[in-house]
Amino acid sequence: MSPFALTRTLPLDATTAALRADVSTGLTRSPKELPPKWFYDARGSELFDEITLLPEYYPTRAEREILVARAGEIAEITGARTLVELGSGSSDKTRHLIGALPSLDHYVPVDVSESALRGAARTLLAEHPALTVHALVADFQYGLALPDTPGPRVLAFLGGTIGNLRPAERAVFLAAVRAELAPGDALLLGTDLVKDERTLVAAYDDAAGVTAAFNKNVLTVINRELGADFDADDFDHVALWDAKEEWIEMRLRARRAVVVKVPSLDLAAHFTAGEELRTEVSAKFRREGVRAELAAAGFELDRWWTDEEGRFALSLSTPAGLPE
Ligand code: SAH
Ligand code: TRP
Repeated sequence: MSPFALTRTLPLDATTAALRADVSTGLTRSPKELPPKWFYDARGSELFDEITLLPEYYPTRAEREILVARAGEIAEITGARTLVELGSGSSDKTRHLIGALPSLDHYVPVDVSESALRGAARTLLAEHPALTVHALVADFQYGLALPDTPGPRVLAFLGGTIGNLRPAERAVFLAAVRAELAPGDALLLGTDLVKDERTLVAAYDDAAGVTAAFNKNVLTVINRELGADFDADDFDHVALWDAKEEWIEMRLRARRAVVVKVPSLDLAAHFTAGEELRTEVSAKFRREGVRAELAAAGFELDRWWTDEEGRFALSLSTPAGLPE
């Protein structure tokens, strides 16, 4: 059997159809809004990897610290033979886990970014020639269709990416993940934690402007895929802390009145000066909230680990009954 397979449950034309639908509703509603998965073309994935190296972007370093400290415990508790990872990106942090799981023989990275999946598989297979890597180009929010691999399985969702979903989306998502897991499997979830506003905002508005470039990359994707004429220089990157929702909100604010044409949708989107396009939220969590969301989806929170500074949490949960 070949150690590498790549399955696309997201046909290329369906991606365009979904992008068309999202752009046409998102640019005509008020407030204007786009879903975050469109950030991650090849360039977006590269920019995200640059974000993870920024001095202000602490989540990657904090989560890596926890993974390094706890990988042995995770191996012992789970005895995993298959590691499924949603939104795996470069799989860079995951390497600490893969190296520490002695029974692991299958790795199933799932991402919308095919370039990120191919790059990750190349690095991993060089390090672990005995590992079977079955990459899945798929949208983790819609029907996971995981390959049939041996259990026990650990399903990892790292990077705080769950915070990029709204609360109602998280409930649907966690219930779908729960339905994929059997007794003996486990969920390994990374969640960024609520902290002071200055630290949070800096992580999403770095001095070097990499996050700004990443946020604006979504405009480049729409220009390329749908022939739109966004000029990235017409927009400012904005990152705000919403203390009530406890999430960071990313926006693109028009510097002046702008009309953007999207010929393939027969659409002209009007921005008034200062009007904002909402691109992403990144929710921050507390232990009790995570426990409750997991319980509502039929998971029992078994372990909760944070980094030394208490900035980020990694939790391990197992399938349980649904609450009455
Ligand atoms: N897990 C990595 C990357 C986090 S960035 C880390 O912790 O550093 C978020 C990743 O999720 C990106 O690789 C992006 O391409 C992917 N992603 C975002 N939305 C997605 C979706 N709806 N379905 C599948 N992958 C998605
Ligand atoms: N999952 C990452 C997070 O919420 C994604 C991310 C980091 C991001 N920086 C960003 C998304 C900037 C949009 C803009 O931390």
